Amino acid sequence: MRIHVVKIGGSVISDKSKPFSIDYAKLEAIAEAIGECIDRGCIDKLVLVHGGGGFGHYVVQEFGSVESSEAFLRVVEVMREMNSKVVEVLRLAGLKAFGIDTHAIAYMRRGKLFLDTATISAALRMGLIPVLYGDAVLDVVDEVFRIASGDELAWELAYAFRAERLVFVTRVPGVLRRGEVVRKFSLSRDLQSMDEVAVRGHDVTGGMRTKLVKGIGRIAGVGSVYIVGHNPRVIKQALCSEPEIGTQVVE
Ligand code: IPE
Repeated sequence: MRIHVVKIGGSVISDKSKPFSIDYAKLEAIAEAIGECIDRGCIDKLVLVHGGGGFGHYVVQEFGSVESSEAFLRVVEVMREMNSKVVEVLRLAGLKAFGIDTHAIAYMRRGKLFLDTATISAALRMGLIPVLYGDAVLDVVDEVFRIASGDELAWELAYAFRAERLVFVTRVPGVLRRGEVVRKFSLSRDLQSMDEVAVRGHDVTGGMRTKLVKGIGRIAGVGSVYIVGHNPRVIKQALCSEPEIGTQVVE
């Protein structure tokens, strides 16, 4: 299977400082861009992941952590709500979006993420677009609640499925060094020299550096990896050819 994995940043499609609001216009534009790439045939199979933005991040900040079962259950609740809103917009744009609750197929062992991929791979073979999200999950060894970020999930899915492409759609146009977008970023060489973009509003899973670090050990199995902004034209380029502005992440 030729698979693309796309992670849409939570702060792209919602406002991290404004709880429980989806930026519908932004999400619709992204959905249309993806739809065009499917119609053009440059995407065969697609897995989508979205972040927590003004839903999950906000709730974790309110509680201070996901240590308590109350906090865990509330995160699960609001992230499901966000996922069903996202899926609805994707469906209206004509995509065969199929929401899958991350907490039901993902778990951790001592903080390391594991996925049961059977449902996702069957869904892909059956022509659906699985839509997962950053979520709270169980650590089945330590018996604690933890956050699995959408970034880590996207890397893990791309690695597990040996994805042809992994594209991160973010609030910024790529990885920045001295304020300029870096064209090519090496995980083994360049982590020290990047700018950290200040995380805005409520964020409990970290910024660009954490996004990149999660790729260490996972990038090997993935074809190409791009980090781009949310301009629909650039998203289409990142999915089908090469983005005019954005960062290619390499080993
Ligand atoms: C966050 O996922 C998940 C929760 C806080 C429950 P991400 O860390 O991927 O979210 P964004 O993309 O930064 O909003």
